[in-house]
Amino acid sequence: MELSESPNGKEKTKPAKLEPRDKVLLVEDFKDTVTIIRMLLEKNGYDVATALSLAEARKQIRTTIPDVIILDINLPDGSGLDFLQELRDIQPDIPVIMLTAYTELDNAVRSLQQGVNDFIPKPFDNNYLVHSVGRAVEKRKLQERVRKSEKFRAVAEMAAGVAHDFNNLLHSMATHIYLMLKDTEIIKSNREHLDALKTAVDDASEIVKRLHTMGMAGNQDLQVVDLASLVNDTLMMTKPKWYHKPRQTGRSIEVETSLEKDIYIKVNPSEIREVLTNIIFNAVDAMPSGGTISISTHKEQEKAVCILKDNGIGISPELIDRIFDPFFTTKGHGSGLGLSISYAIIEKHGGQMSVKSTPGKGTTFIITLPCIEGIRF
Ligand SMILES: Nc1ncnc2c1ncn2[C@@H]1O[C@H](COP(=O)(O)OP(=O)(O)OP(=O)(O)O)[C@@H](O)[C@H]1O
Ligand SMILES: [Mg+2]
Repeated sequence: MELSESPNGKEKTKPAKLEPRDKVLLVEDFKDTVTIIRMLLEKNGYDVATALSLAEARKQIRTTIPDVIILDINLPDGSGLDFLQELRDIQPDIPVIMLTAYTELDNAVRSLQQGVNDFIPKPFDNNYLVHSVGRAVEKRKLQERVRKSEKFRAVAEMAAGVAHDFNNLLHSMATHIYLMLKDTEIIKSNREHLDALKTAVDDASEIVKRLHTMGMAGNQDLQVVDLASLVNDTLMMTKPKWYHKPRQTGRSIEVETSLEKDIYIKVNPSEIREVLTNIIFNAVDAMPSGGTISISTHKEQEKAVCILKDNGIGISPELIDRIFDPFFTTKGHGSGLGLSISYAIIEKHGGQMSVKSTPGKGTTFIITLPCIEGIRF
């Protein structure tokens, strides 16, 4: 990975690896087993949180949603099977791998009936455990993608229909406002109201335009571009928002980049810039006392990967599943369309977009796009 110059002119040190690791919650009371599993999984690139009792596990689930749970059946304050039941009521999709002794086969059968992903008898085989965790995480990611794109497709279809009808109404309103603005008599006593009305209609037209693009299939204006240039162009374009404006109120936002050269993607450049802009704007909004936005790009298995990370307020586990929903916003001034449109743009380009966040620590967006091999200009 290569260090590129920061767009505000200062060279930054290379940021640490940005990509968030998949999180495993290990609920197990036997300390030696905890130590072994933790070491094994950390060595394989996972973040491991541990809970020695069900009470601790319940507390952890309230603050961070893991990507997979490894659950012992016999715990000091109850049965893992009861916890499994509670978990299914609040987080039905988290994969669970049950751990237990050979002698508890009836429990194993019960746990399988409650939809556990795997059942691993103790003493366990290290390779099998790592393999099982990897499989569970992949399955969860796949389910999430399917769920999001199904939900998105339904909303996008509806949005495109609403946008079409609204557009006609807005057109007619805009025409009437235009005619009134030409009438000096009307302007004399109503200028303020007419200006406000015109601004509202213009804003509504913008929203309708954005809604309309959500449902658009296919891509026009595809060009082969270098991902690093797209990121740098977007940073220059958005500099007033992340650099100048915050500094006017004494807030300092830094941008660090670590952009690999020669990653070529075939995309509609203005749409990808829009996606990056939306994420950067959100990051700025999420850092009311300033902070750092870190952007890195690299190539991974024929995919171009762009990771955008902020150290802002983060997103709570209850809300994180909703941030790609159209009109979901926690901001007084937001339309709640930025991320849903970004998601649609990335999907339309055959890519994927995902998010990880820790409340109070920050948020990371990961975008992958198919990349083009072997191009040299
Ligand atoms: N980096 C982030 N940190 C914290 N929360 C975020 C971040 N990015 C998005 N969010 C949350 O996701 C919500 C949806 O974001 P989205 O960009 O779709 O809409 P918005 O920013 O509220 O409005 P707009 O349409 O103007 O973009 C935000 O309101 C915010 O609650
Ligand atoms: Mg936004």
